[in-house]
Amino acid sequence: MPNDFILAGVMGWPISQSRSPILHNYWINKYKLNGRYVPLAVRPERLTDAIRGLPALGFRGCNLTMPHKQMAMTMVDSLTDTAKRIGAVNCIVVGDDGKMSGTNNDGNGYVLSVQEVVPSWKPDTGPIAILGAGGAARAIIVAMLERGAKEIRLINRTYEKAEQLAKDFGAAIKPMRWEKRAGAIADVALLTNATNQGMTGKPPLDISLDKLSKQTIVSDLIYVPPETPFLAAARGRGNVTVNGLGMLLHQARPAFQAWFGVMPEITPDLRAAVMATFKS
Ligand code: ATR
Repeated sequence: MPNDFILAGVMGWPISQSRSPILHNYWINKYKLNGRYVPLAVRPERLTDAIRGLPALGFRGCNLTMPHKQMAMTMVDSLTDTAKRIGAVNCIVVGDDGKMSGTNNDGNGYVLSVQEVVPSWKPDTGPIAILGAGGAARAIIVAMLERGAKEIRLINRTYEKAEQLAKDFGAAIKPMRWEKRAGAIADVALLTNATNQGMTGKPPLDISLDKLSKQTIVSDLIYVPPETPFLAAARGRGNVTVNGLGMLLHQARPAFQAWFGVMPEITPDLRAAVMATFKS
């Protein structure tokens, strides 16, 4: 058996919700590559063993999803600056020497997903409002700051967490209180939901869009479901919306290239293949 079969995968706990196997295997087939991308159900207490085993198993690398992104930081041989700033790893690349490098493509993928829908938008186009201050918010904040964002209003239920991120990331981050959210979003160029509210199984995000400008691009990092009640409300009043699927697809491209050597394309067919998995 030749050892040119390329293996990659995604580690999470649970893992069955991840759409990454669908999209990477779609690309493996499309580009006629010899390989497979597999879901890896890894309990948190076994994460070190699982990651350290990647080179021995012949994996070129893997993605990491909940709840492993932060913990994996200490388990790789090196980290990119972006992963260090975010404080989380979503992608591991195993080098020819067996050394593992950790990176994080989530924030970049997010910025590209917005630009796919609105090509003229840039992080310095105007003020940005982010709802939530967890790991997902950190990833997109780092990418936006790296691309020149000047004002990011960070609105979080627990104000102290927003304050902490402002300390970590500097004066462009303006922490704001949750009670002020309806007014704080009124005039922003981009509004993003980075909380878990609106995810399948959770209540919808509790926010009034009455004061929001019709020009504001409204986005959600959630992709299960593909359109959250928050996005549906924004679309209903005429705002341009961007869902979390674009971030998933765009973060996957550089990872696929690092493992399989091809920069894959995001096509309507690929979107349809991923969307088909949401129909029960
Ligand atoms: P992730 O890594 O996906 O960002 P997280 O770190 O658990 O997940 O962050 C979840 C975010 O959703 C937090 O900003 C959280 O607010 P708190 O910092 O106050 O916990 C936010 N969140 C969770 N439940 C919420 C709710 N009912 N209303 C508003 N925000 C909520």
